[in-house]
Amino acid sequence: MRRYSRITGTGSYLPPRRVTNADLVAELAQSGIQTSDEWIVERTGIRARHFAAPDVTSSDLALEAARKALEAAGCQPQDIDLIIVATSTPDMVFPSTACILQNKLGANGCPAFDVQAVCSGFVYALTVADAMIQSGAARRALVVGAEVFSRILDFQDRTTCVLFGDGAGAVVLEASDTPGILASELHADGRYVDILCVPGGVSGGEVLGHPLLKMDGQAVFKLAVGLLDKAARATLAKANLTDADIDWLIPHQANIRIMQSTARKLKLSMDKVVVTVDQHGNTSAASIPLALDHGVRTGQVQKGETLLLEGVGGGFTWGAVLLKL
Ligand code: UT7
Repeated sequence: MRRYSRITGTGSYLPPRRVTNADLVAELAQSGIQTSDEWIVERTGIRARHFAAPDVTSSDLALEAARKALEAAGCQPQDIDLIIVATSTPDMVFPSTACILQNKLGANGCPAFDVQAVCSGFVYALTVADAMIQSGAARRALVVGAEVFSRILDFQDRTTCVLFGDGAGAVVLEASDTPGILASELHADGRYVDILCVPGGVSGGEVLGHPLLKMDGQAVFKLAVGLLDKAARATLAKANLTDADIDWLIPHQANIRIMQSTARKLKLSMDKVVVTVDQHGNTSAASIPLALDHGVRTGQVQKGETLLLEGVGGGFTWGAVLLKL
């Protein structure tokens, strides 16, 4: 009998400090940066985001989200035999945030590693966990997306600093006789490294380069719109399904206009799209599991429904996961 993987619990966490557009506009004005609530809402759909306190790390946010996902799945940390954390804002250069999270959870012993695929990170991590469960290498995985993107924002650059926020989302993914994850697609194209990057690193005890986010927003926008549609169609085809079979689209939450465009191409009304970008901003690898958990806990998304998760981001990376909840 074929072995599948199935999501049995979801959880998420946002740091308590909520920063509205008005708060950010006022803060930026103090350093001479002009922006407005109208511009941010009209171009992105973002109204607020959460920023973590200075001493809070990705693993702290991941821990809160993981605890909620474990509780929803009705299992204990010791029941987990694989931990994957998708993050581009790890606590340290090494060890991985997954190892730090493992220790905080008290799930010591199981394999734990990070996936670095920026805003596609959760889709990548979920696909890897699914493959490990299908192969028999794991039975019950904790898959987390966690970010403190506020740490890598350039608050002198209004074209990027208004877009991102901090948070974490998690799922428990378990072996099952029935699907579960139906199909997935992952892609990357390193020719586009420069259009979305944090071009810095550490060497000889110093930070080299420019350790703050840089983005060519229009180039990212154009690529994202085309690639997401292709990835969605390829994933549906793999599972022998069509766009009419999708109950919910749970896209990476970067910009409401990208989400509207993808929904239009899939002939889905916006009532079938889980939207959290207005309240969370772009939380990179955390955005999809945050939106998924929001959908589940608000009762929008129901057990047995077919969900299409899709992500796109730095690398350039993109991908989609089609699953039955
Ligand atoms: O998570 C990974 C994926 N990331 C994304 O998907 C992001 C994709 N890109 C986008 O979402 C959009 O390109 C942005 C939201 C980043 C920008 O929207 P846009 O409609 O492409 O705006 P633009 O870059 O063409 O800029 C339009 C104008 C410019 O002024 P001029 O040159 O027309 O006078 C900008 O200087 O808006 C100006 N502008 C701003 N004005 C007020 C840029 N940022 C701001 C701002 N406030 N914060």
